[in-house]
Amino acid sequence: MASQDELKKQVGYKAVDDYVKSGMVVGLGTGSTAYFAVERVGQKLKSGELKDIIAIPTSIRTKEQAASLGIPLTTLDTHSKLDVAIDGADSVDPALNLVKGGGGALFREKIVEMAAEKFIVIVDESKLCSGLGPHFPLPIEVLPFCVQHTMRCLEALPAMQGAKAVLRMGSSENNKSDGDEIAISDNGCYLVDMHFTSDIQDPVALAEQIVKTVGVVEHGLFTEMTTAVIIAGKEGISEKLA
Ligand code: A5P
Repeated sequence: MASQDELKKQVGYKAVDDYVKSGMVVGLGTGSTAYFAVERVGQKLKSGELKDIIAIPTSIRTKEQAASLGIPLTTLDTHSKLDVAIDGADSVDPALNLVKGGGGALFREKIVEMAAEKFIVIVDESKLCSGLGPHFPLPIEVLPFCVQHTMRCLEALPAMQGAKAVLRMGSSENNKSDGDEIAISDNGCYLVDMHFTSDIQDPVALAEQIVKTVGVVEHGLFTEMTTAVIIAGKEGISEKLA
């Protein structure tokens, strides 16, 4: 049976093979699944199968990986429209709404992926869920100033359904809150993980309430953004279109 890493590699490679063509501006996601998509872009540029690609990374570590593979890079300031962006997710619901940011890169991911004509999500089947929330805590990036106050404001939002806010400790690259130091994002901010005990009833309404909370930089609910999800599982690879 294929290992989880093998499944991630399969979807990462397939997304690039199916959706990235020469001449495109490509958004490169962050995380252990997106890693393989970046690897594939690098391979195909090196072999000459792809030409004239320019890419926008969604984190410092993706930027470093892409640079090490010789992938030409740009920013949204220079190229404000992308042909395609490819990224992993922490949870995917049946409507293809996502929770992202387990790896801490949610702000850069969202600003880049919202600017893409196509947003292709790559996951192994463990990321599929019947409802967002209990499956994986919802990350929110916040300014450090008065973070405890911001956390109380988030907990009090009506659409938050009583979810508990936990300040992420340790590395920003996981959501395990497993260190002594507060995790710092690529943007110098903190990460708060919201723990739900029941499915988020209305992700769109919740997203609207979160963005109105002063102190919030961005949140990991990616609603109505997905073009397609490529899923690797025991039965092989499948694709769901929005
Ligand atoms: C990065 O902040 C995240 O949004 C990742 O894209 C997401 O956590 C999926 O990561 P993995 O592919 O490592 O599970």
